[in-house]
Amino acid sequence: MKSSSLFQDNLRGRRERCLNMGKVAPFLFSSVCLTTIFSLFIFYSPGPSKPLPFYSSRNPVNNAIPNKLDDTDQKLQLITEPQNDDEKPQLIEPQEKGGDENCDLFKGHWVPDLKGSLYTNYSCSTIPESKNCFRQGREDKDFLNWRWKPDQCDLPRFDSIKFLEMVRGKKLAFVGDSVSRNHMESLLCLLSQVEVPIDVYKDSEGRNRIWRFPNHNFTLIVLWTKFLVEGEERMINGSTTGVYDVYIDKVDEKWTKDLPDLDYVIISDAHWFFRPIYLHEAGNIVGCVYCDEPNVTRREVSEAVGMALGSALKYINQCKKCKRVVTLLRTFSPSHFENGVWNTGGNCNKTNPSGETDIDSGSSELGLRNAQVKELEIARIRGEKRGKRFRVLDITMAMLMRPDGHPGAFWGNKWMKGYNDCVHWCLPGPIDVWSDFLMAVMERTES
Ligand SMILES: *[C@@H]1O[C@H](CO)[C@@H](O)[C@H](O)[C@H]1NC(C)=O
Ligand SMILES: *[C@@H]1O[C@H](CO)[C@@H](O)[C@H](O)[C@H]1NC(C)=O
Ligand SMILES: *[C@@H]1O[C@H](CO)[C@@H](O)[C@H](O)[C@H]1NC(C)=O
Ligand SMILES: *[C@@H]1O[C@H](CO)[C@@H](O)[C@H](O)[C@H]1NC(C)=O
Ligand SMILES: *[C@@H]1O[C@H](CO)[C@@H](O)[C@H](O)[C@H]1NC(C)=O
Repeated sequence: MKSSSLFQDNLRGRRERCLNMGKVAPFLFSSVCLTTIFSLFIFYSPGPSKPLPFYSSRNPVNNAIPNKLDDTDQKLQLITEPQNDDEKPQLIEPQEKGGDENCDLFKGHWVPDLKGSLYTNYSCSTIPESKNCFRQGREDKDFLNWRWKPDQCDLPRFDSIKFLEMVRGKKLAFVGDSVSRNHMESLLCLLSQVEVPIDVYKDSEGRNRIWRFPNHNFTLIVLWTKFLVEGEERMINGSTTGVYDVYIDKVDEKWTKDLPDLDYVIISDAHWFFRPIYLHEAGNIVGCVYCDEPNVTRREVSEAVGMALGSALKYINQCKKCKRVVTLLRTFSPSHFENGVWNTGGNCNKTNPSGETDIDSGSSELGLRNAQVKELEIARIRGEKRGKRFRVLDITMAMLMRPDGHPGAFWGNKWMKGYNDCVHWCLPGPIDVWSDFLMAVMERTES
Protein backbone atom coordinates (compact mmCIF):
# COMPACT_ATOMS: atom_id res chain seq x y z
CA MET A 1 0.00 0.00 0.00
CA LYS A 2 1.29 3.38 -0.88
CA SER A 3 0.86 5.15 2.42
CA SER A 4 3.82 4.29 4.52
CA SER A 5 3.72 2.80 7.94
CA LEU A 6 3.23 5.05 10.89
CA PHE A 7 6.09 3.76 12.91
CA GLN A 8 8.68 3.35 10.26
CA ASP A 9 8.29 6.98 9.31
CA ASN A 10 8.41 8.45 12.70
CA LEU A 11 10.21 6.20 15.02
CA ARG A 12 13.83 6.68 14.25
CA GLY A 13 14.70 10.31 14.79
CA ARG A 14 12.66 10.83 17.87
CA ARG A 15 13.61 7.55 19.41
CA GLU A 16 17.30 8.32 19.14
CA ARG A 17 16.87 11.70 20.70
CA CYS A 18 14.81 10.44 23.57
CA LEU A 19 17.04 7.46 24.17
CA ASN A 20 20.13 9.58 24.40
CA MET A 21 18.52 12.02 26.72
CA GLY A 22 17.18 9.16 28.72
CA LYS A 23 20.66 7.98 29.48
CA VAL A 24 21.91 11.40 30.44
CA ALA A 25 19.09 12.78 32.47
CA PRO A 26 16.33 10.39 33.34
CA PHE A 27 14.29 13.01 35.11
CA LEU A 28 14.68 15.70 32.55
CA PHE A 29 13.72 13.47 29.67
CA SER A 30 10.47 12.43 31.16
CA SER A 31 9.27 15.98 31.11
CA VAL A 32 10.46 16.48 27.56
CA CYS A 33 9.53 13.17 26.03
CA LEU A 34 6.40 12.38 27.94
CA THR A 35 4.21 14.97 26.43
CA THR A 36 1.36 15.80 28.68
CA ILE A 37 -1.80 14.78 27.05
CA PHE A 38 -4.32 17.49 27.32
CA SER A 39 -7.54 16.55 25.79
CA LEU A 40 -10.61 18.63 25.74
CA PHE A 41 -14.14 17.75 25.14
CA ILE A 42 -15.90 19.95 22.71
CA PHE A 43 -19.52 19.38 22.09
CA TYR A 44 -21.16 20.58 18.98
CA SER A 45 -24.80 20.34 18.25
CA PRO A 46 -25.64 18.21 15.26
CA GLY A 47 -26.09 21.30 13.17
CA PRO A 48 -29.07 22.21 11.10
CA SER A 49 -30.32 18.68 10.64
CA LYS A 50 -33.54 17.59 12.20
CA PRO A 51 -33.59 16.66 15.87
CA LEU A 52 -32.42 13.19 16.55
CA PRO A 53 -34.76 10.55 17.73
CA PHE A 54 -34.74 9.65 21.35
CA TYR A 55 -36.16 6.28 21.94
CA SER A 56 -37.90 5.53 25.13
CA SER A 57 -37.12 2.21 26.63
CA ARG A 58 -37.62 0.38 29.87
CA ASN A 59 -34.58 1.99 31.29
CA PRO A 60 -33.96 5.11 29.27
CA VAL A 61 -31.43 6.67 31.57
CA ASN A 62 -28.96 3.86 31.75
CA ASN A 63 -29.23 3.09 28.10
CA ALA A 64 -28.26 6.55 26.96
CA ILE A 65 -24.96 6.27 25.22
CA PRO A 66 -23.18 9.44 24.30
CA ASN A 67 -20.37 9.96 21.91
CA LYS A 68 -18.11 12.16 23.83
CA LEU A 69 -14.80 11.67 22.26
CA ASP A 70 -11.96 13.60 23.68
CA ASP A 71 -10.50 14.92 20.54
CA THR A 72 -9.83 18.47 19.76
CA ASP A 73 -11.62 18.29 16.46
CA GLN A 74 -14.56 16.34 17.53
CA LYS A 75 -17.73 17.18 15.81
CA LEU A 76 -20.98 15.71 16.74
CA GLN A 77 -21.59 14.58 20.25
CA LEU A 78 -24.84 12.95 20.11
CA ILE A 79 -26.74 10.94 22.57
CA THR A 80 -29.14 8.40 21.44
CA GLU A 81 -30.82 5.42 22.78
CA PRO A 82 -30.41 2.00 21.31
CA GLN A 83 -33.37 1.73 19.03
CA ASN A 84 -35.08 -1.40 19.98
CA ASP A 85 -34.85 -3.44 23.04
CA ASP A 86 -37.94 -5.52 22.57
CA GLU A 87 -35.88 -8.60 21.98
CA LYS A 88 -33.95 -9.76 24.95
CA PRO A 89 -30.67 -10.95 23.57
CA GLN A 90 -29.21 -14.07 25.07
CA LEU A 91 -25.59 -13.94 26.07
CA ILE A 92 -23.54 -15.65 23.44
CA GLU A 93 -20.79 -17.66 25.01
CA PRO A 94 -17.50 -17.58 23.15
CA GLN A 95 -16.75 -21.16 22.15
CA GLU A 96 -13.18 -21.05 23.19
CA LYS A 97 -11.85 -18.88 25.93
CA GLY A 98 -8.20 -19.26 25.04
CA GLY A 99 -5.86 -22.05 25.98
CA ASP A 100 -6.63 -25.08 28.03
CA GLU A 101 -7.97 -23.34 31.11
CA ASN A 102 -11.71 -23.65 31.08
CA CYS A 103 -12.61 -20.96 33.56
CA ASP A 104 -14.57 -18.06 32.10
CA LEU A 105 -12.62 -15.04 33.30
CA PHE A 106 -15.39 -12.66 32.37
CA LYS A 107 -18.20 -14.15 34.41
CA GLY A 108 -17.91 -13.00 37.97
CA HIS A 109 -18.37 -10.09 40.33
CA TRP A 110 -16.46 -7.37 42.13
CA VAL A 111 -15.09 -8.09 45.59
CA PRO A 112 -13.56 -5.63 48.05
CA ASP A 113 -9.78 -5.49 47.93
CA LEU A 114 -7.96 -2.99 50.06
CA LYS A 115 -4.78 -3.30 48.02
CA GLY A 116 -6.06 -0.52 45.81
CA SER A 117 -4.54 0.43 42.49
CA LEU A 118 -1.05 -0.39 41.27
CA TYR A 119 -0.25 3.26 40.50
CA THR A 120 -1.26 6.73 41.56
CA ASN A 121 -1.43 10.06 39.83
CA TYR A 122 2.05 10.69 41.23
CA SER A 123 3.66 7.45 40.11
CA CYS A 124 2.17 7.66 36.61
CA SER A 125 3.07 10.88 34.84
CA THR A 126 1.15 10.19 31.65
CA ILE A 127 -2.43 10.33 32.96
CA PRO A 128 -4.32 12.77 30.74
CA GLU A 129 -5.91 15.68 32.59
CA SER A 130 -9.37 14.52 31.63
CA LYS A 131 -8.89 11.10 33.28
CA ASN A 132 -6.96 12.33 36.31
CA CYS A 133 -10.10 12.39 38.41
CA PHE A 134 -8.36 13.09 41.73
CA ARG A 135 -6.55 16.06 40.31
CA GLN A 136 -9.88 17.30 39.00
CA GLY A 137 -11.41 17.17 42.45
CA ARG A 138 -12.84 13.71 42.93
CA GLU A 139 -12.62 12.93 46.63
CA ASP A 140 -14.00 9.44 47.14
CA LYS A 141 -11.37 6.73 46.77
CA ASP A 142 -13.28 3.56 47.62
CA PHE A 143 -13.87 2.84 43.96
CA LEU A 144 -10.21 1.80 43.72
CA ASN A 145 -10.61 -0.92 46.32
CA TRP A 146 -12.30 -3.60 44.26
CA ARG A 147 -10.99 -6.61 42.45
CA TRP A 148 -12.70 -8.68 39.75
CA LYS A 149 -13.40 -12.23 40.89
CA PRO A 150 -14.32 -14.72 38.17
CA ASP A 151 -16.82 -17.26 39.54
CA GLN A 152 -14.67 -20.32 38.82
CA CYS A 153 -11.13 -19.08 39.35
CA ASP A 154 -9.04 -16.05 40.22
CA LEU A 155 -7.88 -13.35 37.90
CA PRO A 156 -4.24 -12.61 38.69
CA ARG A 157 -3.33 -8.99 39.26
CA PHE A 158 -1.48 -7.29 36.48
CA ASP A 159 2.24 -7.97 36.73
CA SER A 160 4.15 -5.32 34.81
CA ILE A 161 7.46 -7.18 34.95
CA LYS A 162 5.94 -10.37 33.63
CA PHE A 163 3.94 -8.53 30.98
CA LEU A 164 6.96 -6.67 29.67
CA GLU A 165 8.83 -9.99 29.43
CA MET A 166 5.94 -11.49 27.48
CA VAL A 167 5.96 -8.67 24.97
CA ARG A 168 9.73 -8.34 24.65
CA GLY A 169 10.60 -7.48 21.05
CA LYS A 170 6.92 -7.13 20.14
CA LYS A 171 4.49 -4.50 18.94
CA LEU A 172 1.03 -4.12 20.38
CA ALA A 173 -1.56 -1.73 18.98
CA PHE A 174 -4.88 -0.47 20.20
CA VAL A 175 -7.24 0.19 17.33
CA GLY A 176 -10.40 2.20 17.90
CA ASP A 177 -11.84 5.34 19.40
CA SER A 178 -11.13 7.36 22.54
CA VAL A 179 -12.22 4.54 24.84
CA SER A 180 -9.63 2.36 23.15
CA ARG A 181 -7.10 5.08 23.90
CA ASN A 182 -8.30 5.13 27.50
CA HIS A 183 -7.26 1.46 27.76
CA MET A 184 -3.86 2.26 26.29
CA GLU A 185 -3.43 5.06 28.85
CA SER A 186 -4.24 2.61 31.65
CA LEU A 187 -1.76 0.02 30.34
CA LEU A 188 0.84 2.75 29.94
CA CYS A 189 0.47 3.69 33.61
CA LEU A 190 0.76 0.06 34.71
CA LEU A 191 3.88 -0.53 32.63
CA SER A 192 5.49 2.78 33.55
CA GLN A 193 5.89 1.46 37.08
CA VAL A 194 8.65 -0.79 35.71
CA GLU A 195 10.06 1.12 32.79
CA VAL A 196 9.58 4.76 31.87
CA PRO A 197 8.01 4.79 28.41
CA ILE A 198 9.39 7.04 25.73
CA ASP A 199 6.98 9.07 23.70
CA VAL A 200 8.25 8.57 20.17
CA TYR A 201 5.35 9.73 18.07
CA LYS A 202 2.21 11.76 18.44
CA ASP A 203 0.12 13.22 15.66
CA SER A 204 -1.20 16.75 15.89
CA GLU A 205 -4.44 15.61 17.48
CA GLY A 206 -2.94 12.98 19.76
CA ARG A 207 -5.04 10.33 18.07
CA ASN A 208 -2.21 8.17 16.84
CA ARG A 209 0.66 7.64 19.21
CA ILE A 210 3.66 5.41 19.71
CA TRP A 211 5.44 4.68 22.96
CA ARG A 212 8.65 2.68 23.30
CA PHE A 213 9.99 0.67 26.20
CA PRO A 214 13.61 0.41 25.05
CA ASN A 215 14.80 -1.96 27.78
CA HIS A 216 12.19 -4.44 26.62
CA ASN A 217 12.24 -3.53 22.94
CA PHE A 218 8.48 -3.19 23.25
CA THR A 219 6.35 -0.80 21.21
CA LEU A 220 2.91 0.33 22.31
CA ILE A 221 0.81 1.95 19.64
CA VAL A 222 -2.59 3.53 19.43
CA LEU A 223 -4.25 3.81 16.05
CA TRP A 224 -7.31 5.93 15.67
CA THR A 225 -10.36 4.91 13.70
CA LYS A 226 -13.98 5.92 14.12
CA PHE A 227 -15.70 2.99 12.48
CA LEU A 228 -12.88 0.49 11.69
CA VAL A 229 -14.08 0.90 8.12
CA GLU A 230 -14.15 4.09 6.12
CA GLY A 231 -16.70 6.66 7.10
CA GLU A 232 -17.21 10.34 6.60
CA GLU A 233 -19.64 13.00 7.62
CA ARG A 234 -21.99 14.38 5.01
CA MET A 235 -21.43 18.03 4.30
CA ILE A 236 -24.07 20.36 2.93
CA ASN A 237 -22.85 23.62 1.51
CA GLY A 238 -19.66 23.36 3.50
CA SER A 239 -21.25 22.69 6.87
CA THR A 240 -21.48 19.48 8.80
CA THR A 241 -24.74 17.60 9.02
CA GLY A 242 -24.21 15.04 11.76
CA VAL A 243 -25.08 12.35 9.22
CA TYR A 244 -22.40 9.87 8.23
CA ASP A 245 -21.71 7.58 5.32
CA VAL A 246 -19.99 4.38 6.36
CA TYR A 247 -18.49 2.00 3.82
CA ILE A 248 -18.73 -1.48 5.24
CA ASP A 249 -16.53 -3.16 2.65
CA LYS A 250 -13.72 -0.59 2.80
CA VAL A 251 -11.63 -1.24 5.86
CA ASP A 252 -9.97 1.93 7.16
CA GLU A 253 -6.46 1.88 5.77
CA LYS A 254 -5.26 4.22 8.50
CA TRP A 255 -4.94 1.24 10.80
CA THR A 256 -4.61 -1.68 8.40
CA LYS A 257 -1.44 -0.34 6.82
CA ASP A 258 0.44 -1.05 10.05
CA LEU A 259 -1.02 -4.50 10.56
CA PRO A 260 1.80 -6.57 9.02
CA ASP A 261 4.20 -5.15 11.60
CA LEU A 262 2.09 -5.98 14.63
CA ASP A 263 2.13 -8.87 17.06
CA TYR A 264 -1.02 -7.94 18.96
CA VAL A 265 -4.01 -5.86 17.94
CA ILE A 266 -6.66 -4.88 20.45
CA ILE A 267 -9.63 -3.87 18.42
CA SER A 268 -12.72 -2.12 19.77
CA ASP A 269 -15.41 0.07 18.43
CA ALA A 270 -19.03 1.18 18.81
CA HIS A 271 -19.45 4.65 20.28
CA TRP A 272 -19.35 6.42 16.93
CA PHE A 273 -22.22 4.32 15.62
CA PHE A 274 -24.81 6.05 17.78
CA ARG A 275 -25.70 8.60 15.16
CA PRO A 276 -27.50 8.72 11.81
CA ILE A 277 -25.47 6.60 9.44
CA TYR A 278 -25.97 5.36 5.90
CA LEU A 279 -24.30 2.00 5.41
CA HIS A 280 -22.76 1.34 2.01
CA GLU A 281 -21.60 -1.93 0.59
CA ALA A 282 -20.43 -2.66 -2.94
CA GLY A 283 -21.60 0.76 -4.04
CA ASN A 284 -25.14 0.39 -2.69
CA ILE A 285 -26.87 1.68 0.39
CA VAL A 286 -27.57 -1.44 2.42
CA GLY A 287 -29.20 0.15 5.41
CA CYS A 288 -29.19 3.04 7.77
CA VAL A 289 -29.04 3.68 11.49
CA TYR A 290 -31.32 6.26 13.15
CA CYS A 291 -33.10 7.03 9.95
CA ASP A 292 -36.58 6.89 8.67
CA GLU A 293 -36.68 6.31 4.96
CA PRO A 294 -39.18 3.96 3.40
CA ASN A 295 -36.77 2.59 0.82
CA VAL A 296 -33.79 1.98 3.11
CA THR A 297 -33.53 -0.88 5.59
CA ARG A 298 -33.32 0.37 9.11
CA ARG A 299 -30.52 -1.21 11.10
CA GLU A 300 -29.86 -1.36 14.79
CA VAL A 301 -26.62 0.12 16.10
CA SER A 302 -25.52 -3.38 17.04
CA GLU A 303 -26.05 -4.60 13.47
CA ALA A 304 -23.99 -1.76 12.04
CA VAL A 305 -21.24 -2.36 14.60
CA GLY A 306 -21.28 -6.06 13.75
CA MET A 307 -21.07 -5.39 10.00
CA ALA A 308 -18.07 -3.08 10.35
CA LEU A 309 -16.31 -5.37 12.80
CA GLY A 310 -16.99 -8.42 10.63
CA SER A 311 -15.43 -6.63 7.71
CA ALA A 312 -12.36 -5.63 9.76
CA LEU A 313 -11.86 -9.16 11.08
CA LYS A 314 -12.27 -10.62 7.61
CA TYR A 315 -9.56 -8.28 6.40
CA ILE A 316 -7.22 -9.53 9.12
CA ASN A 317 -8.00 -13.13 8.23
CA GLN A 318 -7.26 -12.50 4.58
CA CYS A 319 -4.12 -10.46 5.17
CA LYS A 320 -1.28 -12.61 3.91
CA LYS A 321 1.41 -10.38 5.36
CA CYS A 322 -0.12 -10.41 8.85
CA LYS A 323 0.99 -13.88 9.78
CA ARG A 324 1.89 -13.43 13.39
CA VAL A 325 -0.78 -11.04 14.61
CA VAL A 326 -3.03 -12.06 17.48
CA THR A 327 -6.31 -10.12 17.39
CA LEU A 328 -8.14 -9.35 20.61
CA LEU A 329 -11.63 -7.90 20.52
CA ARG A 330 -12.37 -5.69 23.49
CA THR A 331 -16.14 -5.74 23.78
CA PHE A 332 -18.41 -2.74 24.24
CA SER A 333 -17.62 -0.41 27.13
CA PRO A 334 -20.89 0.81 28.66
CA SER A 335 -21.57 4.34 29.85
CA HIS A 336 -23.54 5.14 32.98
CA PHE A 337 -25.54 8.34 32.72
CA GLU A 338 -28.21 8.76 35.35
CA ASN A 339 -30.89 11.39 35.74
CA GLY A 340 -30.52 12.47 32.16
CA VAL A 341 -28.09 12.18 29.30
CA TRP A 342 -24.88 14.08 28.66
CA ASN A 343 -26.57 17.29 27.57
CA THR A 344 -29.51 17.19 29.95
CA GLY A 345 -27.58 17.09 33.19
CA GLY A 346 -27.02 13.35 33.28
CA ASN A 347 -24.39 12.32 35.78
CA CYS A 348 -22.70 9.30 37.29
CA ASN A 349 -21.83 10.05 40.89
CA LYS A 350 -22.06 6.58 42.39
CA THR A 351 -19.12 5.58 44.55
CA ASN A 352 -19.58 1.79 44.63
CA PRO A 353 -19.95 -1.00 42.08
CA SER A 354 -23.31 -2.63 41.53
CA GLY A 355 -23.97 -6.32 41.97
CA GLU A 356 -24.55 -8.97 39.36
CA THR A 357 -28.27 -9.01 40.07
CA ASP A 358 -28.55 -5.29 39.26
CA ILE A 359 -27.58 -5.93 35.66
CA ASP A 360 -30.33 -6.46 33.15
CA SER A 361 -29.22 -9.42 31.07
CA GLY A 362 -31.34 -8.10 28.22
CA SER A 363 -29.74 -4.68 28.16
CA SER A 364 -28.86 -3.14 24.84
CA GLU A 365 -25.22 -2.94 25.91
CA LEU A 366 -25.12 -6.71 26.15
CA GLY A 367 -26.92 -6.92 22.82
CA LEU A 368 -24.12 -4.89 21.30
CA ARG A 369 -21.54 -7.05 22.98
CA ASN A 370 -23.27 -10.14 21.59
CA ALA A 371 -23.11 -8.76 18.06
CA GLN A 372 -19.37 -8.24 18.53
CA VAL A 373 -18.69 -11.66 20.03
CA LYS A 374 -20.65 -13.28 17.21
CA GLU A 375 -18.39 -11.69 14.60
CA LEU A 376 -15.30 -12.61 16.59
CA GLU A 377 -16.43 -16.24 16.71
CA ILE A 378 -16.95 -16.31 12.95
CA ALA A 379 -13.47 -14.89 12.42
CA ARG A 380 -11.91 -17.23 14.97
CA ILE A 381 -13.28 -20.32 13.26
CA ARG A 382 -12.21 -19.09 9.83
CA GLY A 383 -8.84 -18.06 11.23
CA GLU A 384 -8.04 -21.48 12.61
CA LYS A 385 -7.48 -22.80 9.10
CA ARG A 386 -5.19 -19.91 8.31
CA GLY A 387 -3.21 -19.98 11.52
CA LYS A 388 -4.70 -16.68 12.66
CA ARG A 389 -5.60 -16.22 16.31
CA PHE A 390 -8.60 -14.27 17.57
CA ARG A 391 -9.50 -13.78 21.22
CA VAL A 392 -12.00 -11.78 23.21
CA LEU A 393 -11.60 -9.36 26.13
CA ASP A 394 -15.21 -9.60 27.18
CA ILE A 395 -15.37 -6.65 29.56
CA THR A 396 -18.98 -5.52 29.03
CA MET A 397 -20.58 -7.36 31.94
CA ALA A 398 -17.84 -6.44 34.41
CA MET A 399 -18.00 -2.79 33.42
CA LEU A 400 -21.78 -2.63 33.51
CA MET A 401 -21.27 -3.14 37.23
CA ARG A 402 -18.94 -0.12 37.54
CA PRO A 403 -21.09 3.02 37.42
CA ASP A 404 -18.57 4.42 39.92
CA GLY A 405 -15.60 4.29 37.56
CA HIS A 406 -16.21 7.31 35.32
CA PRO A 407 -14.85 10.83 35.73
CA GLY A 408 -18.40 12.22 35.95
CA ALA A 409 -18.01 15.88 36.86
CA PHE A 410 -14.26 15.47 37.47
CA TRP A 411 -12.72 15.69 34.05
CA GLY A 412 -11.41 19.25 34.09
CA ASN A 413 -14.12 20.48 31.82
CA LYS A 414 -13.26 24.15 31.78
CA TRP A 415 -15.34 24.77 28.69
CA MET A 416 -18.11 22.42 29.50
CA LYS A 417 -19.02 23.07 33.08
CA GLY A 418 -22.05 21.12 34.11
CA TYR A 419 -21.47 18.29 31.67
CA ASN A 420 -20.36 14.92 32.93
CA ASP A 421 -18.16 12.29 31.39
CA CYS A 422 -19.82 8.98 32.12
CA VAL A 423 -18.21 7.30 29.11
CA HIS A 424 -14.47 7.27 29.73
CA TRP A 425 -12.86 5.91 32.87
CA CYS A 426 -10.80 7.43 35.67
CA LEU A 427 -7.11 6.59 35.93
CA PRO A 428 -6.42 4.82 38.16
CA GLY A 429 -9.76 3.08 38.16
CA PRO A 430 -11.70 -0.04 37.25
CA ILE A 431 -10.53 0.19 33.63
CA ASP A 432 -7.18 -1.11 34.89
CA VAL A 433 -8.80 -4.56 35.06
CA TRP A 434 -8.84 -4.61 31.26
CA SER A 435 -5.10 -5.15 31.38
CA ASP A 436 -5.52 -7.95 33.94
CA PHE A 437 -7.79 -9.61 31.37
CA LEU A 438 -5.38 -8.80 28.59
CA MET A 439 -2.48 -10.41 30.36
CA ALA A 440 -4.45 -13.52 31.30
CA VAL A 441 -5.73 -13.98 27.75
CA MET A 442 -2.28 -13.38 26.25
CA GLU A 443 -0.79 -15.96 28.59
CA ARG A 444 -3.40 -18.51 27.60
CA THR A 445 -2.87 -17.68 23.94
CA GLU A 446 0.87 -18.19 24.12
CA SER A 447 0.75 -21.35 26.21
C1 LIG B 1 -3.03 13.81 42.50
O1 LIG B 1 -4.27 13.82 43.18
C2 LIG B 1 -4.31 14.74 44.27
C3 LIG B 1 -5.65 14.56 44.94
O2 LIG B 1 -5.81 13.23 45.37
C4 LIG B 1 -4.16 16.13 43.75
O3 LIG B 1 -4.19 17.05 44.82
C5 LIG B 1 -2.86 16.26 43.00
O4 LIG B 1 -2.78 17.51 42.39
C6 LIG B 1 -2.71 15.19 41.94
N1 LIG B 1 -1.35 15.21 41.44
C7 LIG B 1 -1.03 15.05 40.17
C8 LIG B 1 0.42 15.09 39.84
O5 LIG B 1 -1.86 14.85 39.31
C1 LIG C 1 13.47 -5.48 18.67
O1 LIG C 1 12.29 -6.05 18.16
C2 LIG C 1 12.21 -6.05 16.75
C3 LIG C 1 10.87 -6.59 16.38
O2 LIG C 1 9.86 -5.78 16.90
C4 LIG C 1 13.33 -6.88 16.17
O3 LIG C 1 13.29 -6.83 14.77
C5 LIG C 1 14.65 -6.34 16.66
O4 LIG C 1 15.70 -7.19 16.23
C6 LIG C 1 14.67 -6.25 18.17
N1 LIG C 1 15.88 -5.57 18.59
C7 LIG C 1 16.67 -6.05 19.55
C8 LIG C 1 17.84 -5.21 19.88
O5 LIG C 1 16.43 -7.09 20.12
C1 LIG D 1 -26.85 25.40 -0.52
O1 LIG D 1 -26.56 26.68 -1.01
C2 LIG D 1 -27.34 27.07 -2.14
C3 LIG D 1 -26.83 28.39 -2.65
O2 LIG D 1 -26.28 29.17 -1.63
C4 LIG D 1 -28.80 27.12 -1.76
O3 LIG D 1 -29.59 27.45 -2.87
C5 LIG D 1 -29.22 25.76 -1.24
O4 LIG D 1 -30.55 25.80 -0.77
C6 LIG D 1 -28.31 25.31 -0.10
N1 LIG D 1 -28.66 23.94 0.23
C7 LIG D 1 -28.97 23.56 1.46
C8 LIG D 1 -29.36 22.14 1.61
O5 LIG D 1 -28.94 24.32 2.43
C1 LIG E 1 -34.88 6.61 -1.27
O1 LIG E 1 -35.86 7.49 -1.74
C2 LIG E 1 -35.45 8.86 -1.74
C3 LIG E 1 -36.60 9.70 -2.21
O2 LIG E 1 -37.80 9.05 -2.07
C4 LIG E 1 -34.25 9.06 -2.64
O3 LIG E 1 -33.82 10.39 -2.55
C5 LIG E 1 -33.15 8.15 -2.19
O4 LIG E 1 -32.04 8.25 -3.08
C6 LIG E 1 -33.63 6.72 -2.13
N1 LIG E 1 -32.57 5.91 -1.59
C7 LIG E 1 -32.21 4.75 -2.13
C8 LIG E 1 -31.09 4.01 -1.43
O5 LIG E 1 -32.73 4.29 -3.10
C1 LIG F 1 -25.71 12.71 42.64
O1 LIG F 1 -26.41 13.56 41.75
C2 LIG F 1 -27.76 13.80 42.09
C3 LIG F 1 -28.36 14.74 41.10
O2 LIG F 1 -28.09 14.44 39.81
C4 LIG F 1 -27.86 14.40 43.46
O3 LIG F 1 -29.22 14.52 43.80
C5 LIG F 1 -27.14 13.57 44.47
O4 LIG F 1 -27.12 14.21 45.71
C6 LIG F 1 -25.71 13.30 44.02
N1 LIG F 1 -25.08 12.40 44.97
C7 LIG F 1 -23.89 12.64 45.47
C8 LIG F 1 -23.34 11.59 46.40
O5 LIG F 1 -23.26 13.64 45.21
